[in-house]
Amino acid sequence: MMYRDFAEIYDTLMTEFDYDKAYDFVNFFVSKAEIIPEKVLEIGCGTGNFTEKLLNFREITAFDLSDEMLSIAYNKIKAGNVKFIKQDMRNFNFMEKFDIVVSICDGINYILKESEVIDIFKNVYLHLNDGGLFIFDLNTEEQFKSFNLSYVDEVNDIFYVWENFYNELDKINLYSINFFVREGDFYRRFYEEHYEKSYRNEFVVKILKEAGFKKINTFNGYEFEENIEYAKRIVYVVEK
Ligand SMILES: C[S@@+](CC[C@H](N)C(=O)[O-])C[C@H]1O[C@@H](n2cnc3c(N)ncnc32)[C@H](O)[C@@H]1O
Repeated sequence: MMYRDFAEIYDTLMTEFDYDKAYDFVNFFVSKAEIIPEKVLEIGCGTGNFTEKLLNFREITAFDLSDEMLSIAYNKIKAGNVKFIKQDMRNFNFMEKFDIVVSICDGINYILKESEVIDIFKNVYLHLNDGGLFIFDLNTEEQFKSFNLSYVDEVNDIFYVWENFYNELDKINLYSINFFVREGDFYRRFYEEHYEKSYRNEFVVKILKEAGFKKINTFNGYEFEENIEYAKRIVYVVEK
């Protein structure tokens, strides 16, 4: 099971991802959108680091599959316009439509079957108002191939050994992580395995079109850079 004990130290270790930059990027496109953006749906919100940036919108619905991640998000953000909900992105249903749907920091890479990604895109389409935006990012194969095989670090009182195994046949990267968290004179050890799959950009664009999306723009990270040839993270800005 993923994001159980890891949830409590996720924020301490997530120092490399720039949520402000991602928000500025999202906001740039939102401000140019045809719709008046009031209702936002966040897929795979984790501990709420990006949710926190969205508080200016009228209504935010943020969901994740991990109880532990949601619990941290819930305790972090005390705002009346945010709802945190436990749902699986493979079959979410909110019985309402949104103006903006976002999924930040490789949440969709956690989906390991092409057919499930196809279903997610179709479902996002159904949950969007006309003219609404779907903005998400995906780690690419370049990213997984660039990872060190193993990585050891100590941050605050957390010592961890992070191993990556990318399988070029099924395009799945296994993160195998041993954590040692200091508790008084002792270290509590726990272990998590996470799997992320890379999807070729051509495939992603094709299934977005098949889901009904009209305009699809791709960027190299949250940089406004359109050359994605060697991108490690592709950001998709998609309009219904
Ligand atoms: C790398 S974290 C990103 C979290 C957050 N978006 C952020 O930017 O910090 C990926 C998140 O996706 C969630 N996730 C993975 N599979 C999921 C699924 N099937 N349904 C909903 N959430 C899922 C995980 O629990 C985790 O919180």
